[in-house]
Amino acid sequence: MAQNKLNLLELNDFPWNALMAAARAARLQAHAPYSRFLVGAAVLDEHGRLHAGCNVENAAYPQGVCAEAGALSAMVLAGGRRLRAVVVLGDAGGALVTPCGGCRQKLREFGAADLPILIADPQRALARFTLDDLLPHSFGPDHLSLNP
Ligand code: THU
Repeated sequence: MAQNKLNLLELNDFPWNALMAAARAARLQAHAPYSRFLVGAAVLDEHGRLHAGCNVENAAYPQGVCAEAGALSAMVLAGGRRLRAVVVLGDAGGALVTPCGGCRQKLREFGAADLPILIADPQRALARFTLDDLLPHSFGPDHLSLNP
């Protein structure tokens, strides 16, 4: 198990521990009175900066915003335009809290196919994917520049 955790985090390549801490703290700020499902996300941008977000629900339920979308908004506001690493952190009793379909596409706007996405619970990293794992054969901004 300890070995597995080390493999997931590959401690040398990205500041996973700082991203985990940011996502863990963000999750505790979530406004989720309807689902009671708290999620935190943290992203690393091309400047080496961390940005965090939490889910923010609404009494008009579809108006809620996912944690990943909040973290992306914070990154863009701060001038970040490329994603280097992502952590999504929730607590589903050991099940993986992976980004929803809409958030996968939102991540695609700013991330390369090999963007690492770590899925965690408050205690530990559970799985590591690439964006292409989660959103294969995807459509993105690069396609628009191919428009004849
Ligand atoms: N949620 C996120 O914020 N991110 C995810 O990756 C999965 C789901 C939120 C949306 C909603 O506020 C709550 O979790 C339950 O779906």
